[in-house]
Amino acid sequence: MDTKRKHLIRLGAGVAAGLGAVALVWAGTASAGAEENSTQSDFEAQVIGGQEAEEGQYPWLVGLGSAGSGTPWENQFCGGSVIAPTVVLTAAHCVESDAPEDLAVFSGSVDLEGPDIVTTGVADIHVAEDYESPTQFANDWALLLLAEPVDVEPIALNADLTEFDAFETAGWGLTEENEYPTLARWVEVPFVDDTQCAEAYPDEHDAASMVCAGDLASGGIDACSGDSGGPLMAGAEDGSQVLAGIVSWGYGCAEPGYPGVYSEVATFVPTIEEVVAGWGAEL
Ligand code: ARG
Repeated sequence: MDTKRKHLIRLGAGVAAGLGAVALVWAGTASAGAEENSTQSDFEAQVIGGQEAEEGQYPWLVGLGSAGSGTPWENQFCGGSVIAPTVVLTAAHCVESDAPEDLAVFSGSVDLEGPDIVTTGVADIHVAEDYESPTQFANDWALLLLAEPVDVEPIALNADLTEFDAFETAGWGLTEENEYPTLARWVEVPFVDDTQCAEAYPDEHDAASMVCAGDLASGGIDACSGDSGGPLMAGAEDGSQVLAGIVSWGYGCAEPGYPGVYSEVATFVPTIEEVVAGWGAEL
């Protein structure tokens, strides 16, 4: 548990350095013990309000962690999505201060402590050039070039700015029990439009690069700390799932009035394609 806590603090502190009030919630959650959190436990915050993912439900879902000793569960601090055999899309804030050799990608299973997890190294990192412009957390995306291809089904990028009614998000982030699960969890989250999201976050919301989701009125369902970088998925017309967003930030987790904020993948598709092609890979 110690290792896990250390990563959370690392992430919380990095975020807090730049973000002010929004991130202080994270730093507080990260360092506070269960006692201090009890003031928040009267809302059902956690992947909060979700359930365990089945093996194979989201083959492209990967954990992102620190390379080195410890199990994948101990080292995991963010999520990501495989978009090509050698390429993972994640959040810029997950990897902006890391060197490729610091990172490991955990693929192939929903169970971070299970026998089927494959650990892969990272050969290169591309952080969005306009990350944090024009607002904190704007354009929060990054690509990882893997040292070897992974044998999982990639997810297609949502290329047009379709307005979906609902999404699914998934990851190994904090649950309502304030614990990091070993099995990935998922939850369905309704779309929240730009107008409502800008009302919730008047200074931080950037409509061009962010899409919001959650239960605006009641809260109770959301991504949370440790889910960052992971997928926000929508159903395409042919029944497959497409990647519409990347878990990015929020004020606390699952609080009424404060939806989860995701990087809006459709906005970045042309740039993502260029970077992927530059790496000699193909979507
Ligand atoms: N920033 C968090 C992380 O680094 C995830 C934020 C998602 N928060 C939310 N309320 N949807 O893991």
